[in-house]
Amino acid sequence: MNPSPARHSRITGTGSHLPPQRVDNAELAERLAADGIETSDAWIVERTGIRARHFVAPGVQTSDIAVQAARHALEAAGRRPEEIDLVVLATSTPDMVFPSTACIVQRKLGIHGGAAFDVQAVCTGFVYALALADSMIRTGLASRALVIGAEVFSRILDFKDRTTCVLFGDGAGAVVLEASDAPGILASELHADGRHVDILCVPGQVAGGAVTGDPFVRMDGQAVFKLAVGVLDSVSRSVLAKAGRSAQSIDWMIPHQANLRIMHSAARRLGVPAERLVVTVDEHGNTSAASIPLALDVAVRGGRIARGQSVLLQGVGGGFTWGAVLLDF
Ligand code: ACO
Repeated sequence: MNPSPARHSRITGTGSHLPPQRVDNAELAERLAADGIETSDAWIVERTGIRARHFVAPGVQTSDIAVQAARHALEAAGRRPEEIDLVVLATSTPDMVFPSTACIVQRKLGIHGGAAFDVQAVCTGFVYALALADSMIRTGLASRALVIGAEVFSRILDFKDRTTCVLFGDGAGAVVLEASDAPGILASELHADGRHVDILCVPGQVAGGAVTGDPFVRMDGQAVFKLAVGVLDSVSRSVLAKAGRSAQSIDWMIPHQANLRIMHSAARRLGVPAERLVVTVDEHGNTSAASIPLALDVAVRGGRIARGQSVLLQGVGGGFTWGAVLLDF
């Protein structure tokens, strides 16, 4: 197919899924106390804004919750699975070493033939996936994409490490992104700096029939915090400039939902009022690549984000990776 100069992409439907098991801070603190690990609702709320997270039941895989989110997004877009010609799935917790979880989702949804692959950019994964799908649609490589962020982070949490296990949760979010004459996606930008690999990682590997090394999330929280605030600001200014828009013109800002203090500080630096910030970290915790599409779907279904409004998505995470997408919904 020849690319058309006027070809753009826009979101035609959103969906999400949270596992039914909701664990609030008090319940998590009680579970940790049984192992002699001390934490409290007050500490978690004050430092992060998180009040609860959802965890999958044993045996539930990333593809299972991704499929649920994808079905909701397809329904919202009025599309059938067989109309999809691209599945891009962002995750750091794939079902298997290979094939990609995107291919497993494709099979579960009954989609055949179009491209399907995973994106690994940790918490920036969905922003990477959306920017990639947009490029593929604009260049004619695809026409109708399912872009998904899905994580079962509970599988890689060390429940003896209170500095990380209180922060994360499981969930999935998805959008249908379609070719259109008018832009949806206005501008995007992606970055990585591998010098910071060690400040946020799961260093283990599968080798020789066993897991070798440390298979849990390890994080230098303060180093992540400091880097995150600066890069979110610079990448946001850059995509706004590319699109010829001002920060004041943004209707909604959806940063990666890691920590309420990072989100407020990113909004303040950019000059976006707190009431234009979509916040779900309080109820979801940090769901890594799922956090942005989950928050987007919650705000759309809750009647806050309306058609035609502008939305700034900001991702930041392990790698170190970061990026932003500005779109008209
Ligand atoms: N409960 C109680 N006390 C705790 C807990 C806990 N869960 N965790 C740490 N503490 C203690 C520490 O041991 C320390 O005690 P000390 O003073 O006696 O040594 C004290 O609380 C303060 O610890 P800090 O690490 O200084 O706390 P800080 O205010 O930096 O908050 C946090 C930690 C929440 C991790 C913060 O640094 C942060 O949010 N960083 C960014 C994390 C982030 O965004 N991660 C996701 C990135 S995205 C991705 O790709 C996964």
